[in-house]
Amino acid sequence: MERIRNFCIIAHIDHGKSTLADRLLDITDAVPERERVEQILDTMDLERERGITIKAQAVRVLYNRPDGEWTLNLIDTPGHVDFAYEVSRAIAACEGALLVIDASQGIQAQTLANLYLAMEHDLEIIPVINKIDLPIADVAAVTEEITELLGVEEDEILKISAKTGEGVREVLNAIVDRIPAPQAAGEKTRALVFDSYYDPYRGVVALVRLFDGALRKGDEVRAFGSDERFEVLEVGCYSPRPTSLEELRPGEVGYIVAGLKDIEALRVGDTVTRADDPAEEPLPGYTRVPPTVFCGLYPTDPDDFERLRNALARLQLNDAALHFEPENTQLGFGFRCGFLGLLHMEIVQERLEREFGLELIATIPNVKYKVRVDGEEREITNPSELPDLFEEIREPVVRATIICPQEHVGAVMGLCHERRGISVGMEYISSMRVQLTYDLPLAEVVTDFFDALKSRTRGYASFDYEPRGYQAADLVKVEVLVAGDPLEALSMIVPRDRAAQRGRALVEKLKELIPRQQFQVPVQAAVGKRIVARENVRPYRKDVTAKCYGGDITRKRKLLEKQKAGKRRMKQVGKVEIPQEAFLAALRI
Ligand code: GTP
Repeated sequence: MERIRNFCIIAHIDHGKSTLADRLLDITDAVPERERVEQILDTMDLERERGITIKAQAVRVLYNRPDGEWTLNLIDTPGHVDFAYEVSRAIAACEGALLVIDASQGIQAQTLANLYLAMEHDLEIIPVINKIDLPIADVAAVTEEITELLGVEEDEILKISAKTGEGVREVLNAIVDRIPAPQAAGEKTRALVFDSYYDPYRGVVALVRLFDGALRKGDEVRAFGSDERFEVLEVGCYSPRPTSLEELRPGEVGYIVAGLKDIEALRVGDTVTRADDPAEEPLPGYTRVPPTVFCGLYPTDPDDFERLRNALARLQLNDAALHFEPENTQLGFGFRCGFLGLLHMEIVQERLEREFGLELIATIPNVKYKVRVDGEEREITNPSELPDLFEEIREPVVRATIICPQEHVGAVMGLCHERRGISVGMEYISSMRVQLTYDLPLAEVVTDFFDALKSRTRGYASFDYEPRGYQAADLVKVEVLVAGDPLEALSMIVPRDRAAQRGRALVEKLKELIPRQQFQVPVQAAVGKRIVARENVRPYRKDVTAKCYGGDITRKRKLLEKQKAGKRRMKQVGKVEIPQEAFLAALRI
């Protein structure tokens, strides 16, 4: 155990985590030259293209130096706020963390969020300034930010270029010299699952960190959280190819093959122990993360409904956080889906379209509300389900951290204010850059907050958030009625004082999009029984008088009267067909 070091890399997106991981693998010769590909830790193509690390992985390398051989386990963490729980479990599996900061960008919001997580777990933090080769690198300014933030001496900060390899060997030495070796706490086997995935050939595979005891092939084990019992079919580690091992010992990181069909049985955060000689307590921190963002997904081709169901089920095999259930609205048959956050939602949609060749319509994302009706609390994940009368509605609130250059502070405050934000604090992290903290309704964040923030700060702001529970708010449901019929897929829950404005925007848009009918079609936005906005789609007026030449005015009038009567009748029986493009365009606003 004294020769093991378990560490992760904490970095804001694009600050060079994957590049540094590649360099560490190069130096330790973990990958034969001919097998080297860029960014070996990101397995999914999609990830590589988007440049985002989604799933945590673990790689074991051997580092040789004059004082002998060291086993280093690099646990990769996802960088995005949606996957905060996975990050926290990966961090819990380590004793140390490299804090990687881009020399041209400085500390960013996600760096901070993950750094605080690492500090809560008492990890040894090694600050690393990356990209010192860049002409625009401002090493002095970033050094100042780091010494301020961590209270470290300047000489404790490593300065490297993951691209050229400069300084990377010092990183390896710092890992060995500064990060403590793992320590066993008890006798009975306990392994923390910090990642798990479904392999079509081997069933569920879990990445684990052994805290106590050992795991071998053939062991009968049990997962505390799911209470599932199974036999370990194989244990091993990634170096970086999967390599089977005799056993996993305390302090070690590796994988276990469980052969189970259902990833629910071995979720991230669970503890594995021996079935015959179990530990008394699981390792701390197991929670199931519920979805926070919901939307409806519909196939553009109604015949694809079953294919969509199968595709969602396939994705769910590997993504226990993805929820879905069938629903039926004017958009046809589709699914109400729950996600960890906006990015998670985008990733799922993109995979459905790309890997399964499905064409989809997505409704506007919404959050989960808690509503008290007749003294009973109900959870609402679909705005159309909100009853007209209720005693109280509460919505999820997040604490947002925004870091931006000083000159953009006004723009950020303006945006947060528009989005119903409440300022919690503001401080300078250096002479040039400011950290703002706001409590914001999650509903305001899941629409286009991030895009708005980027555009108002010309890309210079970074943003992160964490949940802060539920808060009562004065919210109402705005429904859109076309010819008197509600369009459920367009219902939304909004603050009362914005209901009219939001309703009007939607109604005006729809008026443009709904094709003219034989009769006049009213398009209305309503809050309960009250109409807050109305537009009319004008009818076609066939020129019934075209055939009468000359001046017989009474004949003309008669024809027009007849036309009017016909239209009146049609209005009663007529049904407005709303083209899908109209929905699509309306959903985009
Ligand atoms: P995510 O996986 O999205 O979290 O990003 P990451 O933090 O893993 O960043 P990644 O390693 O993908 O690097 C982002 C970009 O920075 C890439 O284009 C790298 O080539 C570049 N980069 C990384 N390290 C250096 C460096 O030391 N110098 C320079 N000039 N560029 C670098």
